[in-house]
Amino acid sequence: MFETLPALAPDPILGLSAAYKQDPSPYKIDLGVGVYKDEQGNTPILDSVAEAQKILLQSETSKVYITPQGNPGFINGMLTLLLGNNSAALNDSRVAAVQAPGGCGALRILAELLMRVNSKTKVWVSDPTWANHIPLLGDAGLELHTYPYFDKASASIKFDEMMDCLSKVNAGDVVLLHGCCHNPTGADLTKEQWQEIAKLANKVGFLPFVDTAYQGFGDGIDEDTYGLRTLVENVDEVIVAASCSKNFGLYRERVGLAAIICKDEKTKSIAQSQIQSVARGIYSMPPSYGGALVDIILNTPTLNQQWIAEVDAMRNRMTDLRAMLVNNLAAQNVDKDFSFINTQKGMFSFLCIPPEQVQLLRSDHAVYFVDSSRVNIAGINHNNVEALAKAIAQTM
Ligand SMILES: Cc1ncc(COP(=O)(O)O)c(C=O)c1O
Repeated sequence: MFETLPALAPDPILGLSAAYKQDPSPYKIDLGVGVYKDEQGNTPILDSVAEAQKILLQSETSKVYITPQGNPGFINGMLTLLLGNNSAALNDSRVAAVQAPGGCGALRILAELLMRVNSKTKVWVSDPTWANHIPLLGDAGLELHTYPYFDKASASIKFDEMMDCLSKVNAGDVVLLHGCCHNPTGADLTKEQWQEIAKLANKVGFLPFVDTAYQGFGDGIDEDTYGLRTLVENVDEVIVAASCSKNFGLYRERVGLAAIICKDEKTKSIAQSQIQSVARGIYSMPPSYGGALVDIILNTPTLNQQWIAEVDAMRNRMTDLRAMLVNNLAAQNVDKDFSFINTQKGMFSFLCIPPEQVQLLRSDHAVYFVDSSRVNIAGINHNNVEALAKAIAQTM
């Protein structure tokens, strides 16, 4: 019966990875898929994670199911990481949460919950946004719209246009915001801009939906929660999807958190029962292993310190790589000022070059990244940066 379905083109990013693997060039450069890489181009297991694995191996006594809600140590640890030690919402027991299979799982179950509230819910996503937001939210049945976000010509956020658009959405609409390290542009909102969004959310009555997948990769683990915490402190209801894939390097273990900050404890109980029922209807209970590791790391002081240092090292390396790329491009005397790359945050930047140039870089220089011109900064290293800058210069 499946022959009636159309065959689909491969996912552009995963397709790019396959093309990179097949390219015989010894000089090929992969700036495509969003995984952190070290100077050698590897994505190693963090030392804190390796330590936690040893502890878990010694302490785990059963593989019996965990609950649909997930590991309580993981959930509490993550909520504190996201909302802070002194969070009024946590102190007032206003936060419903479940462990989810990755940030993707969290996004999807929150989308399903929004559908239960109102099957006509509209969600506003930034233009551009992470490509997978569209199926994760749209396939649940939500109606997606975009708000202006990034201007490629000036390589900056169109904040006035964004605010103008969001001021006209309906009460009860949902606005998806990237907590930090915007994917794909790397362009983040300032503190003042987050405050203005919180005010607008109250004025218009839209529900902020924060997706945070790179906590610690922007300015710091606490610093990167500024937007989320500002919203939670000022707006009655906020929903959050968090991922542990990048900052814990636990990609394949599928660890994430879905949280609903409610206006009161009674609503929290309703939300908790509903989100668990959504999860139960899709995958029943989350995978245990990754969440158990994060629980150990967040709740063992020495491991927590070690993890923070590892996140700091990843972030600082990416900041250095940005500067190195900008300097190497400047040394090629290119006719474009790429210094905006230094102001962007996290793992991604838009190079703000046209798709034809991206395709030339791929076909003539074996440099792989998506047509939007999003590059994974962590794919750059001391050995490839000069060749990369030369290739970009030659295609300009
Ligand atoms: C913006 C954003 N949100 C969520 C995710 C979900 O990550 P995962 O499902 O791997 O935890 C990603 C991963 O690339 C992302 O970039």
